[in-house]
Amino acid sequence: MSFTVAIDGPAAAGKGTLSKAVSKHFGFAHLDTGLLYRAVGAKVAEGQDPFRAAEELVPEDLLRPDLRTLGAGQAASRVAALPSVRVALVDFQRRFALAAEGAVLDGRDIGTVICPQAEVKLFVTASAEVRAHRRWLEVGGDEAQVLAEVRERDERDMNRADAPLRPAPDAHLLDTSELSIDEVVAQAIDLIAAKRG
Ligand code: DC
Repeated sequence: MSFTVAIDGPAAAGKGTLSKAVSKHFGFAHLDTGLLYRAVGAKVAEGQDPFRAAEELVPEDLLRPDLRTLGAGQAASRVAALPSVRVALVDFQRRFALAAEGAVLDGRDIGTVICPQAEVKLFVTASAEVRAHRRWLEVGGDEAQVLAEVRERDERDMNRADAPLRPAPDAHLLDTSELSIDEVVAQAIDLIAAKRG
């Protein structure tokens, strides 16, 4: 029996850290679905057709070292607005969710579109300022510019027609603005443990 944990939320809300901690705790496989869109965005920046880039994506593409930059995030957010790209990536994500040991998928539309049957859905948020500050601590540069990019990406991810970023009706909301990562991880582990029985 598969057991799926869907973790959605905006950029730099803490999804990655939370997903890694939760998957480690329960021994679940983890897929950062943002990396799929980042890898497609990088290929499109090199001149490939978006749909073909998504269709032909292979796991090795997710290992490119340049996928974590702000520019790669923006490129990802742009290709993620294309319905053909989203459709091409559905099967890969759904297959991953069937991992025998259980799976954590984090992204924007896991609880709403990819795995609406997920046993546990978490929606992780924090104010744009808090998220931009966290991202700025990682990437440096001009903090106002990082905030502007976070806002621009939120705007695009929440307002696209296909699979916009929003909590599933049955998602648990976790606001990380004023909680430490340890507190958020503890809350998530409690919710998942209660559901697993
Ligand atoms: O989580 P991230 O910052 O790596 O995601 C990069 C972009 O990819 C994000 O701005 C929107 C898109 N994305 C998406 O549309 N759906 C997902 N499930 C994951 C990411």
